[in-house]
Amino acid sequence: MQQYAFKMYLLKIFIKLFHFLPGEVSHDLALSGLKVLHRFGLLEFLLERRTEDKEILKKPNDVRTYKNKLGIAAGLDKDGEYIDCLSALGVGFIEVGTVTPKPQYGNAKPRLFRNRKDKSLLNRLGFNNKGVEYLVKNLKERTSSIPIGVSIGKNFDTPNDEAYRDYLFCLERVYEYSNYIAINISSPNTKELRNLSSKEFLKDLLLKIKEKQVLLSKTLEYVPIFIKISPDENQQKIEEICNCIIESEIDGIITSNTTIEHNDKNGYGGLSGLPLKDKATRKLILIKKIVGNQLPIIASGGVMSALDYQEKIDAGADLVQIYTGFIFEGPKLIQDILKSQTI
Ligand SMILES: Cc1cc2nc3c(=O)[nH]c(=O)nc-3n(C[C@H](O)[C@H](O)[C@H](O)COP(=O)(O)O)c2cc1C
Repeated sequence: MQQYAFKMYLLKIFIKLFHFLPGEVSHDLALSGLKVLHRFGLLEFLLERRTEDKEILKKPNDVRTYKNKLGIAAGLDKDGEYIDCLSALGVGFIEVGTVTPKPQYGNAKPRLFRNRKDKSLLNRLGFNNKGVEYLVKNLKERTSSIPIGVSIGKNFDTPNDEAYRDYLFCLERVYEYSNYIAINISSPNTKELRNLSSKEFLKDLLLKIKEKQVLLSKTLEYVPIFIKISPDENQQKIEEICNCIIESEIDGIITSNTTIEHNDKNGYGGLSGLPLKDKATRKLILIKKIVGNQLPIIASGGVMSALDYQEKIDAGADLVQIYTGFIFEGPKLIQDILKSQTI
């Protein structure tokens, strides 16, 4: 036990060292560091859970069958470059992306800010990614068999009435290599992206996505589609979105993305972490009330401890994701949650 606590302490120090650097630099360095530790087998040595202990999933495309319900949220590994080392940390699934058809730089830097006091991140990255082809290459090369969700989006210069082309393009490219696909229409950092959740666009977009999924699943295994929702929608809008998802026979919901309702000193962008927790849980409860057991729900937003994880499960989540909590607490958060679940 003492030895375990010491190893977790070492890992926490390792992560904390990077916190003295600007947000994005530290993020990239910490992930690269984990990759190196994994390459030399040190990550497995530091963690109690060993990779070979992981369950063998019979139906990786059915998220309701996952025994380990803890995953990494979209945005941490945008290009699928860290799948094997993140998998070694003991999570049950990883959502990579969001990717777009063409590579893009994203918004001007600085665009990622860490607020240690209130345990939050403010980001306005704007879908920086190396493009869907690069992600597919990494998905093909990964050695871990962990279930992978792939989050797809549109390029910043694609107008909303053409956006469906970007989603269909990415859907087709990643379909064969995904266990579920997340449609990101809720990032606040791509101009007018959230308008895709409005009646005007949503029905048509989901119809086209469904048609493509049906077509692809004639020759490939059926891959479920999830829609990721913003926490800033009001009750009426959430009801409309959920009903549209059900009518379009889309397979599931991810709730929620970051919030733009804040007064962060670093300006505009999406806020995540502790200040998002209660709001995200309220939206999860509302969505669960609307969809009942018809659709699986993946919850994210402010999970900073094992208790927060349990709160999401109790509120109706089938799976739970972490991002900001992992940045602040490191691999210890994963270990704590897994221990509390005795998975
Ligand atoms: C730096 C950063 C980048 C993110 N990028 C994406 C993204 O590309 N796609 C996406 O769907 N969500 C993205 N998110 C949102 C997270 O996936 C997650 O839904 C949100 O941060 C709430 O969870 P948390 O409080 O545990 O961080 C990002 C979040 C952060 C902090």
